[in-house]
Amino acid sequence: MKIVLLGPPGAGKGTQAEALVKKLFIPHISTGDMFRAAISSGTPLGMEAKRYIDQGHLVPDEITAGIIKDRIAQPDCREGFLLDGFPRTLPQAEALDEMLKEQGGLDAVLDIDVELDRLIVRLTGRRMCKDCGAIYHLLYNAPQKENVCDICGGSLYQRVDDTEETVKNRLSVYEKQTAPLIEYYQKKGILHIVNGDNPINTVLADLGKALGQNWN
Ligand code: AP5
Ligand code: MG
Ligand code: ZN
Repeated sequence: MKIVLLGPPGAGKGTQAEALVKKLFIPHISTGDMFRAAISSGTPLGMEAKRYIDQGHLVPDEITAGIIKDRIAQPDCREGFLLDGFPRTLPQAEALDEMLKEQGGLDAVLDIDVELDRLIVRLTGRRMCKDCGAIYHLLYNAPQKENVCDICGGSLYQRVDDTEETVKNRLSVYEKQTAPLIEYYQKKGILHIVNGDNPINTVLADLGKALGQNWN
């Protein structure tokens, strides 16, 4: 299964991707996570990406499409993959189509649809585990112990791009550059829209249904 998770910043792509890949046994590929890993290792890619990410702008298409092309050529992607945060511009979507031309293209695009005014609260209240990357929310998915990861005991931090000002930039970038992909994939007949305003487990079940699975 070759799947794309689409949706605005804070829609729950990372949260759902983690749960979906445990059920589907395919790798979770998040361009945002790849850039953040490169930033913390201080690689040239990380230094370049940081200039854009910290402002809430997109990393240039050539760079982003390049890292995806290399990643999906890895052996663990032979049975499929779940892309989270890629593509998010039309040129990226076209580049992905080109990469998958000989493998029959994508199987499904799952769009997590959330009312825009909820997203600021979701993003400013998000906390991430420094060690394992688990995603929490101060109100909607709080850790049992304040600032400590339930899974690995690591400490939690706030992403630098989760301040209110940067979030507003990210949402406007989404509206202009990423939202047009909904129509792009609708025309191809592979788009499934799921209501992302629901609780996390309901969204997961609905994503499963869209993929023809029954996880209730
Ligand atoms: P990226 O890391 O992909 O960020 P994003 O798209 O802005 O999305 P987020 O990770 O912020 O949100 P999410 O949908 O994963 O939500 P989450 O599950 O965490 O990209 C970061 C940056 O990297 C970009 O701005 C750009 O600069 C660069 N970049 C990345 N990909 C790129 C590309 N292809 N091209 C160019 N540049 C690129 O959930 C959010 C919060 O809500 C959490 O606290 C969670 O607990 C909570 N939550 C989740 N679901 C629910 C629910 N159903 N109900 C209540 N709360 C919920
Ligand atoms: Mg994410
Ligand atoms: Zn952890």
